[in-house]
Amino acid sequence: MLYQATLFAGAISLLAATSAESQAQGIRIPLTKRSSITKADGTFDHDKAIFQTIAIQNKHRQNLINLERNRGREALNKASIPFFLRNIGSEIKSLAVVPETLRRRQSETLINENDDSEWAGRISIGTPAQEFLIDFDTGSSDLWVPSTSCKKSTCNSKNKYNASLSATGSQRPGVFSIEYGDGSNVSGSVWEDIVCISGVNAINQIFSPVITLSNAFNNDPVDGVLGLAFPQLSNLNGDPFFFTAVKQGTVPHGEFAFKLTSGNGSTLFLGGRDSSLFVGVPEFHALSRPGNGFWQIGGASIFVGSTTVVSNFDTIIDSGTTIMYGPPSAVKKFYSKIHGSKLYDTTMGFYSFPCSADPLISFSWNGGHKWRIDDTSFNLGQIEDGSMQCLGGLAAQDLGLGDNVWVIGDSFMKSVYSIFSVQQSVIGFAALA
Ligand SMILES: *[C@@H]1O[C@H](CO)[C@@H](O)[C@H](O)[C@H]1NC(C)=O
Ligand SMILES: *[C@@H]1O[C@H](CO)[C@@H](O)[C@H](O)[C@H]1NC(C)=O
Ligand SMILES: *[C@@H]1O[C@H](CO)[C@@H](O)[C@H](O)[C@H]1NC(C)=O
Repeated sequence: MLYQATLFAGAISLLAATSAESQAQGIRIPLTKRSSITKADGTFDHDKAIFQTIAIQNKHRQNLINLERNRGREALNKASIPFFLRNIGSEIKSLAVVPETLRRRQSETLINENDDSEWAGRISIGTPAQEFLIDFDTGSSDLWVPSTSCKKSTCNSKNKYNASLSATGSQRPGVFSIEYGDGSNVSGSVWEDIVCISGVNAINQIFSPVITLSNAFNNDPVDGVLGLAFPQLSNLNGDPFFFTAVKQGTVPHGEFAFKLTSGNGSTLFLGGRDSSLFVGVPEFHALSRPGNGFWQIGGASIFVGSTTVVSNFDTIIDSGTTIMYGPPSAVKKFYSKIHGSKLYDTTMGFYSFPCSADPLISFSWNGGHKWRIDDTSFNLGQIEDGSMQCLGGLAAQDLGLGDNVWVIGDSFMKSVYSIFSVQQSVIGFAALA
């Protein structure tokens, strides 16, 4: 720990001045809003939150499986490499499974919600272009969309890739598969084709046109997922879209940035940052475990008001996660500082707190600025209509990522402008304009 602290203590000052020049031309991709786990009547959608949590558990489980396969066992915990390059206590857990009762309910009630939308944007694949609506995910590294060969009803309403219509597509050996823990999965063959996002091209981009699709996508307007994390986590064991684009020189800089808001105006910026969307100088932090494939930074602290509740942990910044997850003991300690909070769902690690509370939650990294989380992002709604207790956007889950690793999703990302540099292996935060 001491070594680690010494090694990275200077990270923030060294990096504060990073690449002002990267504000050159980039491409702005408008995103629509992510599906909410708060219902229209302001109450917390417990079933949906369970599905999302299980999907996140399995996504990161799959990341670890991919990492181990791509990089060998030492990339995980059983290591011969120095401890500061890996996450102590990380392990591939067994698949998280959606309870049977909920699976049945899913196929009935969850399907009828049409207020659903995600922070999704358009991409095209192939020549001529076939269009898809995509979830941009900094917490995974593969691109997949439904194939015209998908016969599942879940695929009916989706845009589908027809390989025989594309002059530039070609099949590669291998299969792609992700399990969702609800008895279904996403799987397909492996292809290469040109992928284009608002003029940023990646030629011969590896991806999977999937022929099975999890029921989890039944009521989801999104066709597929585009992973923005590092190649080490790729199930396809190839360069993710953004890495291909950087190598092929079709983006001006190896940097992308997100503004995520509850209203309109969410954008992904490819090839730099959009300086009209933030104020001040961004604060940058070096990746704490470079080479492990995650967008992970260390030296984190979480505050309630001015009190430091937990400190010196690692955080994976994951745009594909709606809320935030931390190790159970740390999360318990956190809620103990919010008077009137209670464990609400033991299995899922959800806590409630008094709706009237104004807990002033913030994170900092390496002793830098305290980045406040908007109360509206943290509060997921009343636990039931008329209740004085509301659900908190931080849940207690051991995701297998390590003893000291939290996953920080949209609940935090909505409060800042976030910048991801593959060129410098840093993540930056800035105040929203
Ligand atoms: C895919 O495109 C080919 C060539 O135009 C066409 O014959 C075929 O019907 C298409 N497949 C589907 C499932 O739409
Ligand atoms: C995926 O689901 C299909 C049926 O939908 C099943 O045949 C296949 O074994 C599953 N694959 C995995 C890896 O779970
Ligand atoms: C967001 O955009 C939609 C569609 O363009 C529009 O109907 C709606 O009024 C906008 N909402 C806000 C808060 O600007």
